[in-house]
Amino acid sequence: MRVGMLTGGGDCPGLNPVIRAVCRRLWENGHETFGVLNGWRGAIDHNLKPLGWDETSGILHKGGTIIGTSRTNVYKNEGGVEAVKKLFGDHIDALVAIGGEDTLGVASRLSAEEGLPVVGVPKTIDNDLNGTDYTFGFDTAVYVATEAIDRVHSTAESHNRAIVVETMGRHAGWIALFSGIAGGADYILIPEVEVNYDDVAAAVERRKQRGKNFSVIVASEGAELPGFADEGEVDEFGHVRVENRAVGETVAQEVEKRTGMQTRATVLGYIQRGGTPTPRDRMLGLRFGLKAADLVNEGKWGRMAALHGDDVVSVPLTEATAELKLVPRDWYETAKTFFG
Ligand code: F6P
Repeated sequence: MRVGMLTGGGDCPGLNPVIRAVCRRLWENGHETFGVLNGWRGAIDHNLKPLGWDETSGILHKGGTIIGTSRTNVYKNEGGVEAVKKLFGDHIDALVAIGGEDTLGVASRLSAEEGLPVVGVPKTIDNDLNGTDYTFGFDTAVYVATEAIDRVHSTAESHNRAIVVETMGRHAGWIALFSGIAGGADYILIPEVEVNYDDVAAAVERRKQRGKNFSVIVASEGAELPGFADEGEVDEFGHVRVENRAVGETVAQEVEKRTGMQTRATVLGYIQRGGTPTPRDRMLGLRFGLKAADLVNEGKWGRMAALHGDDVVSVPLTEATAELKLVPRDWYETAKTFFG
């Protein structure tokens, strides 16, 4: 078989290990492998390149994706579905789609509605995909964010400031939550929980009363700010740019107003997403890649590799894309034990 693979949506540490593993396992079974370049864009344009030993060696530790990515939505491009149907038969016989809710949402529809031979691999630093306990990329993002929080602590303490660290996570607060707990944040703001500036300020004040004249607050870029309405352009999947909320800066100003303390904000942004994956993300990427190749070998279309406990299993793509995996309330309660 000629098996294509594509990576869609925001890039993510661990994508290259997936590609490497898919190829290695498929070659064992005599299949040919191709990169469909730049996500669904390449599937519409039939832009492919063969993936052999030369292309896939030395990529395990590299961040990003060697086959490029985009936020193209097949269903929002005229003739998109027809073009992708033609890709099958003309160029490939099966496809491994590696992506988050958007990319896999398209994969799920193409499989369910068009009967195309597609399997999925879940990817996102945000860890908000349903059907799997964790996605690769998340561990790297949390590692980077935790290191940043550690660094911010010492400068906050030296200057007697409250510093807000803004993490990625537009719909779900997993990165803020995990890095905030691991980094000992004095308050954590996530999209799932209403923002209350007075509460944040109270935590900072409590610390002052205990002689700690500095605080570190971790805020997810997707936190819903009171009175703020998103506007502006949306992408092909209907997402607004949450950066426009300026969550870090806004929270810093509101805390300063209420406490009189000098505040600063720092946005971690793409640093969380770029660069080399942690060993854990490499392992998860490799294991997902092997599973996806096995699904192709077994003709189990419409399924996605997933982590359940310590086991890599497969679940229907429809389950993974039906809803987002948000931070449950009890996780946030765990974090609150350590506030202020
Ligand atoms: O892929 C997830 C993510 O990193 C979100 O955390 C973030 O809001 C978004 O992508 C940024 O998207 P873009 O790369 O289009 O700026």
